[in-house]
Amino acid sequence: MGDGNNLVGVDIGSSSIKVCQIKETRKGRSLHKLAYAPLPPQTIVDGHIMNAGAVTETLSRMFADNQIKQRNVAISVSGQSVIIRKITVPMMTPAELDEQIQWEAEQHIPFDIKDVQIDYEVLKRQPERGQMDLLLVAAKRDEINDYAQFVREARLKPLIVDIDAFTVQNLFEATRGFPPDQTVALINLGASLSSLNIITGGISAFTRDIASGGNVITEEIQRQTGVSFDQAESYKCGGSGGDAGAFGSSGMVPQQVHDVIESVCDTIAAEIQRSLDFFMATSGESEIHRIHVTGGTANLTPLRNAIQRRAKTNVDFFNPVEKLTLDGPGVPEPLVRERAAQLAVAVGLSLRKEKEKRA
Ligand SMILES: Nc1ncnc2c1ncn2[C@@H]1O[C@H](COP(=O)(O)OP(=O)(O)OP(=O)(O)O)[C@@H](O)[C@H]1O
Ligand SMILES: [Mg+2]
Repeated sequence: MGDGNNLVGVDIGSSSIKVCQIKETRKGRSLHKLAYAPLPPQTIVDGHIMNAGAVTETLSRMFADNQIKQRNVAISVSGQSVIIRKITVPMMTPAELDEQIQWEAEQHIPFDIKDVQIDYEVLKRQPERGQMDLLLVAAKRDEINDYAQFVREARLKPLIVDIDAFTVQNLFEATRGFPPDQTVALINLGASLSSLNIITGGISAFTRDIASGGNVITEEIQRQTGVSFDQAESYKCGGSGGDAGAFGSSGMVPQQVHDVIESVCDTIAAEIQRSLDFFMATSGESEIHRIHVTGGTANLTPLRNAIQRRAKTNVDFFNPVEKLTLDGPGVPEPLVRERAAQLAVAVGLSLRKEKEKRA
């Protein structure tokens, strides 16, 4: 605290944009502004913004309608344009590392090094071995520039570009903290993407984005029952949008839909399990003690159950706003209630401060 104002967290997800501003006082953190707006399908495909106009207009409108005055924002990127690796390098000074990092990155990053923005964090120094562990992050410059540019076109100033998985990790740390002697998995289950971050003793040990999320469930319901995307979404969400009329005169979700949900959730869980298995096989860790899930698709009980069944590890729902008080009119209570799970990245970004800007 005391190091400048909080930035506004802007999460441009493939299904919707989430905007969040928090206030920090001595008494704690409160949610000061919150806005949510769906994006038309195909606005963002495979992490690329295909329809810049829709993103820029939606963002401008969200800030105007909700009277958000702070224009300095933090955004994040994820998916195929981001590579995160834990690497080991010889012990060196920060100055030497700054000089060496491009070369080190080249050995580990499958992109042309000229096209990526490199960042790193020292995870652990092991002087006795003359080595240190780094977390190396490479994000495609084009992708970052695109996102930043569209945000600027909405007359906002992106001061920080973060990565979804780390944003959720920061929020979890600020909310609950990590047990020092345990390994936990944090999974953000979104619409088109699910990001997995395995954390040992509070330090990220493995991250992976899985190109699967709520959309594959909706699309499979569509395919098997012949309904529209919107109808399939309503079925999937069990009418949680209050749109009971969508279920026809019976007001029931057909059994076939339940079966499709069960089966696709199991497929997603299997994919997550493959990543957990890979981590276990390569990390030397013997156990994942707990799995915390968040993101819109974490609302689906069948998915949480499927992950728990396959991983044989307790799955817990992480509510991104569980420790925040609500500040009043800028924060619609029904929105918080219905969309809480979708807010992890936006709330995580809103923890960032103006003064720490590096970009
Ligand atoms: N109550 C619910 N039950 C089931 N699914 C839900 C519910 N609420 C939201 N979802 C699903 O969550 C997804 C949206 O979650 P989220 O906002 O976290 O994704 P996103 O950030 O837009 O996408 P991504 O991060 O993948 O680009 C959608 O697939 C939506 O159908
Ligand atoms: Mg998301």
